[in-house]
Order: sequence, then C-alpha cells, then structure tokens
Amino acid sequence: MTIVQATLDDVIEITEVNKVLDIGWRLVSKFYSQEWVGEQVSNGRIYIKRRQEDVAGAVCLSIEWGIHRCYIDSIAVRTSFQRQGIGRELVEFAKKYAQNHGCVKMWVATMLKYGVLEFYQKCGFTMADEGIQAENTEGANCRLSIDFPEQKS
Ligand SMILES: CC(C)(COP(=O)(O)OP(=O)(O)OC[C@H]1O[C@@H](n2cnc3c(N)ncnc32)[C@H](O)[C@@H]1OP(=O)(O)O)[C@@H](O)C(=O)NCCC(=O)NCCS
Repeated sequence: MTIVQATLDDVIEITEVNKVLDIGWRLVSKFYSQEWVGEQVSNGRIYIKRRQEDVAGAVCLSIEWGIHRCYIDSIAVRTSFQRQGIGRELVEFAKKYAQNHGCVKMWVATMLKYGVLEFYQKCGFTMADEGIQAENTEGANCRLSIDFPEQKS
C-alpha cells in the first residue's frame, strides 16, 4: 500500500505507533502526545504507511521554505513491523517529497540512544561535519543529512 497523508481519523493510531519513540526522555515525549500529533496532522505534515488496516509507520516532515531544506521531525515504525523495509520506504517517500518541494537538502537529528545511525546511513544520510554532539543532560545527538542535486528550471 502506498504512503498517504494522514487525516484526523489517524491521530490516535499514529500516537500509538509513535510510542516507539519513548526512550524515557521528556525531550521527545511530545512525539507521542495526541496534542502534538493532532497539530501536525492538521498542518498536513504526517504521512503514513498502512499494512492491512493498521498504521504501520509514520513520518512527520517539515519544510524550511526560505532555505529550501526539509527535515524529518519524527519517524516511527510499529515494533511488530520493524525491519521489513517500512522505515526505508518512508525515507524514500520523504526524499521525493522534499525534492518535489524544491528542497536542496534533507536532514534529521537523532539521539544516539535510539541506536539508528546505521539505519539512516543505509538510507543515504551522512553525518554532518560537526559529528556527534553532547546535548544537555539527556544524552548525545547527531545530525545527518542528504544533499539533492540542484534542479534545473
Ligand atoms: C528506525 C526505524 C524507523 C527503522 O524502520 P524499519 O522499518 O525497522 O527499517 P527498515 O526495515 O526499512 O531498515 C532499512 C535498513 O536499515 C537497517 N536498520 C533498521 N534499523 C536499524 C537499527 N536500529 N540498527 C541498524 N540497522 C538498522 C535494516 O536492517 C535495513 O538494512 P538492509 O537494507 O541492509 O536490510 C524503526 O526501527 C523505529 O521506528 N525505531 C524506533 C523509533 C526510532 O528510533 N525512530 C528514529 C528516531 S530519530
């Protein structure tokens, strides 16, 4: 099934899926709050992949219009559907979405505690020059990005 824009009917299920982002840190708890998910869905920023009737994965995308960059605010795949290619599919969708919106770069920031650097690297991201950053008391994080070739008009 293809990846589609989420609707308000999906908010509860996306909130449930995004609970895989819970690493016990207050900093990331918004990602699995209905309020935040509802706001992002209302703004048309969340895209979902279904397996049968279930939401199997969700990605939240933001475009920084002035600087032509797109960032992945959150990406999550339901535990029972992980390691089946859904995360990569969501990233491939995000790349196309970014390029279709004229972006020259896509980036993501991840806490090392998630242990997903390799996932992003397998999806084509490279670590930003500044490398791994120590961030506040909750742990280290890292920015990864992908540059897109400039599109000829
Ligand atoms: C990270 C996440 C989105 C990946 O989704 P997924 O559907 O499991 O990933 P895929 O099956 O598409 O994996 C693509 C490739 O990355 C690899 N990969 C996936 N997760 C990985 C991990 N944690 N560590 C190392 N490699 C990983 C897969 O083995 C696969 O490699 P292959 O192409 O050589 O077979 C998912 O595991 C998840 O929701 N994790 C919890 C939330 C999270 O950490 N989100 C990111 C926070 S920044």
